Amino acid sequence: HSLQQLNTFGIDVNAKLFTNISSEADLTEIFSNPIVKENKLLVLGGGSNMLFTKDYDGLVLKISIKGIDVKEEGDDVLVTAGAGEVWDSLVKYCVAKGYAGIENLTLIPGTVGASPIQNIGAYGVEIKDVFDSCTAFEIATGQIKTFSKADCEFSYRESVFKGKLKGQFIVTSVTYRLSRTGNLQTHYGAINSELERRNISEPTMADVSEVVAAIRVSKLPDPSTIGNAGSFFKNPIIDKAVFDELLPQFPDMPHYPAPDGRVKLAAGWLIETCGFKGLVDGNTGTWKNQALVLVNHGGATGQEVYRFSEKIINTVQQKFGVLLEREVNIL
Ligand code: EPU
Repeated sequence: HSLQQLNTFGIDVNAKLFTNISSEADLTEIFSNPIVKENKLLVLGGGSNMLFTKDYDGLVLKISIKGIDVKEEGDDVLVTAGAGEVWDSLVKYCVAKGYAGIENLTLIPGTVGASPIQNIGAYGVEIKDVFDSCTAFEIATGQIKTFSKADCEFSYRESVFKGKLKGQFIVTSVTYRLSRTGNLQTHYGAINSELERRNISEPTMADVSEVVAAIRVSKLPDPSTIGNAGSFFKNPIIDKAVFDELLPQFPDMPHYPAPDGRVKLAAGWLIETCGFKGLVDGNTGTWKNQALVLVNHGGATGQEVYRFSEKIINTVQQKFGVLLEREVNIL
């Protein structure tokens, strides 16, 4: 089964076995089939955070569980969506209904089910800020379990599902706590300046969503025309002592406060400063407007992209002594 249309990098690979999952009952059924014990498993949402470096020699479960359910609780609105809902469609739905909280996360590729796994975030908002709970299928027992926000152990691009419970659960639905009177988050520099440029002093939720969409379109390549998986690396978080030695050498280096007194750097800046921005390397390269995004200019293999990412890691390590960690899952 070809996976080329099922990964936003557009890498041309095949899966040995493939099945579509449209309901929790489908999960129960497939997990009662001996085929799952005999094969390794890959759970696929929108395929927007993956780099396939070879054919997948196992069973791919494409999660297509749909449905949106809304429950009002005073000014709060609990929105529950099936894991297979397209994330940006949910954002558009909530913006249209006036449910505030995820408008800053406009145009993020991928599905609802993936949103808690890596605690997706952009423009000053992370999923953890609006997350209420999720349900997930436990592979070992076949039971559906509910996870509270605390259970998920969210941090920057991390959750329990990437950590100690990796490979043990399949998210089936997510509930977000949104608000009909919510405060809009416009403190992120790029949002602020774009609102100013448009002379909008009292933005609506739709304004924020539109502005975020405009910023993303100007900086990030559209995966439907140029294969990519968004930020390829995480922004590195370093110790204050290391930062204090680095800053005098690179006074322009963007930096942000991180938990526990540590400091977050901008991987895009580190990569650009090493001369990689817009660089074309065979069929791959970095995006001309955002060096943190690796692209498939057409016909790239996953190996080729992976090797290019190693070159970047090594060069950044040599220049700054900072080790970049991939955000994208390598398969
Ligand atoms: N920068 C450069 N050169 C570049 C790219 C960035 O100098 O080529 C500088 C910018 O000028 C800015 C800083 O780096 O000072 C941060 O850049 P930007 O605001 O574009 O955000 P980012 O840190 O590169 C992160 C997320 C994005 C998210 C944006 C906006 C990660 C790994 N990435 O990128 O998320 O959209 O912030 O909030 O945290 C993704 O995860 O796939 C993703 C796109």
